[in-house]
Amino acid sequence: MPLIAERLDRISPSQTIAITTEARALKAAGRDVISLSSGEPDFDTPENVKQAAIRAIEKGETKYTDVAGTLPLRRAVAEKFRRDSGIDYKPEEIIVSTGGKQVIFNAMLATINAGDEVVIPAPCWVSYPDIVSLAEGKPVLVTCEQNNGFKLRAAALEAAITNRTKWFMLNNPCNPTGAAYSADELRPLCDVLLRHPEVWIFTDDIYEKLAYDGFKPATIVEVEPRLRSRTVTMNGCSKAYAMTGWRIGFCGAPVALIRAMDKLQSQSTSSTSSISQAAAVEALTGPQESIAAMARVYQDRRDLVVAMLNDAPGITCHKPEGAFYVFPSVRGCIGKTSPAGTRITDDKTFVTALLAETGVAAVHGGAFMHPGHFRISYATDTESLREACGRIQRFCRSLA
Ligand SMILES: Cc1ncc(COP(=O)(O)O)c(C=O)c1O
Repeated sequence: MPLIAERLDRISPSQTIAITTEARALKAAGRDVISLSSGEPDFDTPENVKQAAIRAIEKGETKYTDVAGTLPLRRAVAEKFRRDSGIDYKPEEIIVSTGGKQVIFNAMLATINAGDEVVIPAPCWVSYPDIVSLAEGKPVLVTCEQNNGFKLRAAALEAAITNRTKWFMLNNPCNPTGAAYSADELRPLCDVLLRHPEVWIFTDDIYEKLAYDGFKPATIVEVEPRLRSRTVTMNGCSKAYAMTGWRIGFCGAPVALIRAMDKLQSQSTSSTSSISQAAAVEALTGPQESIAAMARVYQDRRDLVVAMLNDAPGITCHKPEGAFYVFPSVRGCIGKTSPAGTRITDDKTFVTALLAETGVAAVHGGAFMHPGHFRISYATDTESLREACGRIQRFCRSLA
């Protein structure tokens, strides 16, 4: 009898984590590697947040909490949703989990029956299709082309919905494209969703705070309160507050779904860390200036990366509104051969040759269900970014 369960055959390991691990190993072996593969802020967690965690340890706040999170944190989350999006959630409509990833996991596992369909705009974050598949659901990918800013068109959403559709998942701003939707841009999608009252909506707003040139990403319930009774509004501390290792994600949703997610979480991780929760209260309710300071740096880096990549022959790079990624096309490099003799046949061979021949680690578009492109994370110090983009330019110029 095989040891590993069949359900694991439905998923693959996270490819972003795999490439980041490979880059780390090459670096440890002495190679000159610049990793642009990880979706992790290079900034340190703000000092006031760290101090709140230290105080929590000193006060003995080191025990299990309620599964859904401490009441002070759920109140702070409710206040965050009210302040930023004008949405009123009560503490019992909120659950805190071990990162945004567990919120998605809980929501899908708690609701999907075998064969239920989940409409996901692609390119999409690597984990969405796998989490849906693990829950025995069927990911239905809807392609969003670069010529529409990688954004979903209302007609494409309408066409993807069937009588098996359980969820529509939106990521705003988006990993890997950085595409973000304003309130005006969400309106036509909300109109489609209003016509399909059986479809639930999961909106992953984890990059909400990282938007540039004054762009304000909106969220579904803010735009259309009539969708509130079937929407999960997800957010977290990982990206906005540079708190990836603290593992804090949360959502607002109707009480019946929160209870189901709570039940599932009570039999897996229980609550997330009590210390991280105390830190998250400070992150959400304390001074918010550090977010704007980080966003200003990200905006400058985005501008640098977009300009330098558009100077690399064979690459075209769209300028996105948010997150800390760009998703350039490599179509102009396909069919060429690298100095070391690798024939570039697709996005995968491009990033493999780029790592082997220049030491720059990036993730191929296929990992995000959109071949022909690659993802660069600019959550890396500016000098390394400049050096990495210079190497990409020289690599592209050397293709023959
Ligand atoms: C789109 C998206 N959603 C959710 C997450 C998960 O965040 P967390 O680290 O809080 O689990 C990530 C992390 O990369 C992400 O890119």
